[in-house]
Amino acid sequence: MAATQAAETVDSAGSAGVVGLFPPGTALDAAGALVLGGVPVAELAETYGTPALIVDEASIRARARRYADGLAARWPNSRATFASKAFPCTAVYRLLAEEGLGIDVAGGGELTLALAAGADPAGLVVHGNAKTEEELRLAVETGAGTIVVDNFDDIDKLEKILGVTGGEQGVLVRVTPDIRPDTHEAISTGQNGSKFGLLLPQAREAIARLRGSDRLRLDGVHVHVGSQILDLEPFAQAVEAVAELGEFAVYDLGGGLGSRYTYTDHPPTVEAYLDAVTDVAKRLLPADARILIEPGRSMVAESGVSLYRVVSVKRGGGHTFVAVDGGMGDNLEVSLYQQRFEAAVATRPTGGGELCRLVGRHCESGDTLSASVPLEDPRVGDLIAVPVTGAYTYALSNNYNGARRPPVVFVRDGEHRAVVRRETYADLMRRDLP
Ligand code: LLP
Repeated sequence: MAATQAAETVDSAGSAGVVGLFPPGTALDAAGALVLGGVPVAELAETYGTPALIVDEASIRARARRYADGLAARWPNSRATFASKAFPCTAVYRLLAEEGLGIDVAGGGELTLALAAGADPAGLVVHGNAKTEEELRLAVETGAGTIVVDNFDDIDKLEKILGVTGGEQGVLVRVTPDIRPDTHEAISTGQNGSKFGLLLPQAREAIARLRGSDRLRLDGVHVHVGSQILDLEPFAQAVEAVAELGEFAVYDLGGGLGSRYTYTDHPPTVEAYLDAVTDVAKRLLPADARILIEPGRSMVAESGVSLYRVVSVKRGGGHTFVAVDGGMGDNLEVSLYQQRFEAAVATRPTGGGELCRLVGRHCESGDTLSASVPLEDPRVGDLIAVPVTGAYTYALSNNYNGARRPPVVFVRDGEHRAVVRRETYADLMRRDLP
């Protein structure tokens, strides 16, 4: 493809302006337009329409290997597990299962998706603070390797289920260590007051009870203190906290590593994160224990790019509103967590231009994709690219204002394929009964 051959490859960690936030391997063609996974953005927009979520397959695979190999090098008896809530689409499950990762699922829906994608049940870690008996039964019957006990009711339900099915089920106890990472309140989960897990005294009680169980095999403990965490200290503290609970065969250290959404975000690298947790593990955990980690966001965020079309440019009152054909229907991160995103006109991503408010099409003032972002001469019909949208966007997409959820398109080596189609207006009525 001529466009790609002429392209200059830009290193994601480099200082190449806004392009540096796009998936590794992103390039510019001769005219200065973005080329994602070897495919020019204009071709993607023409083929699939907008809004569309473009996913650079190579960069997810590379990330998965960095996690899996990096963990194995530091702690051989280990497994990297993908927290699938970050991108619960069967094509993504398939890809990460192919890379040899375990899969963490929150409830029966994600469990069903993982199985449909061919994930090995033995590598499933089943989470949830409100798992119904039906969901737990599904997990037991499908042979899910690990169920994470969040509360005493999980233990009661599992005892009952296994009393009927027979057999044995491996479980971990989710511990709330009372650690408060510096992140948005809504995605902080390790503090006293979190609805997730058991505080240390209750965790000890659950451990004692499980040790006396005939059917539930206590494999170990689990901890996850929050998401989009940009410093390493809370991860180290979490390992210290679970070490206090005693010696187990398995320690699941959760996920939470933050991603780089803006020029000013500087999350630790995967390797620095792995060093931080395994350094404490080497000091405090049994040498023969198995370590699991469950990254979600940091596995997929940087691989995703949202493509939109500019519908209107409105100036007044000192503001320039650039309104696009998507918004909080396909990206709730801004509304829910005030996440900041950079953006660029996809055909001239200069990193400079007029300071604009990039807004969506939904009937809500909070429907903003970026409160203040420089866009180069934005005009109606331009393509806008928002980088770092691989995590928790597809997962939280919705039909507000009758929005049709966008397609997911994988790009790799100059080829593209839709793995999820765009919803149709008919889809909006699919569940309606006469
Ligand atoms: N393990 C458990 C038990 C979790 O609850 C989570 C995320 C993860 C692993 C993965 O964490 P990550 O590596 O992605 O930070 N909806 C929010 C994020 C919620 C995260 C919930 N738990 C958002 O859109 O930002």
